[in-house]
Amino acid sequence: MKRGYLLILVFALISCTSSPKVSQPSSDERATLDSLGSYAAKQLVSNLQQALLKAVSDGGPANGIAVCRDTAQALTRSISAQLGDNILIKRTSSRIRNPKNRPDEYEEAALKYFRDVLTQSDSLPPNYAQKIQHGSTVYYRYYKPMQVAGLCLNCHGDPKSISPEVQTVLNEKYPHDAATGYQEDDFRGVISVTINREF
Ligand code: HEC
Repeated sequence: MKRGYLLILVFALISCTSSPKVSQPSSDERATLDSLGSYAAKQLVSNLQQALLKAVSDGGPANGIAVCRDTAQALTRSISAQLGDNILIKRTSSRIRNPKNRPDEYEEAALKYFRDVLTQSDSLPPNYAQKIQHGSTVYYRYYKPMQVAGLCLNCHGDPKSISPEVQTVLNEKYPHDAATGYQEDDFRGVISVTINREF
């Protein structure tokens, strides 16, 4: 009898702690994900870029970085809120500036996917998706890769060519910054869109 209970307990523990399943969404799911995800990513990129370009043209990269520092997180949260309760958007990378943008395990896997394809084929795939199953909960992820453009180098390029004003703000606000040393066209990271809905 006691042994029976023990077995039940062991099975219950195994099923509770069983690791989440990650798979590739079906082609139908993929079509919906692509349109929701690319729309969400576009909203974030264009809003961030507008804020950045305006700040840089108003007062140079040092002003841009102040705006980035103050607005990047708030802007990301507000775009998420506009997109609705079941969509969450974030920027992440293998080399992060703000610890709040740290990748989770699924984002790590997506970053690795883009890095691997880039190494093998010398070009980035346009996007990537995951279907994540945690017990009875299912949600989806859509990822859009980001590349480094000329403008980005002002704040993410070789530390030797980053202006002293920008470097001062970086040292002060991001003491653990790992997001410099990039070159134009490098893979910088992803926009990660979490989509919590049934298809
Ligand atoms: C004016 C300076 C500046 C420029 C130009 C700039 N960034 Fe950033 N970037 C920042 C700052 C500051 C952060 C940290 C924002 C935060 O606190 O979330 C950041 C964060 C990021 C992140 C989030 C991951 C992380 O490292 O925390 C990505 C991705 C990113 N930048 C990509 C780009 C790309 C791509 C460009 C060019 C299109 C660019 N940045 C241009 C200052 C800049």
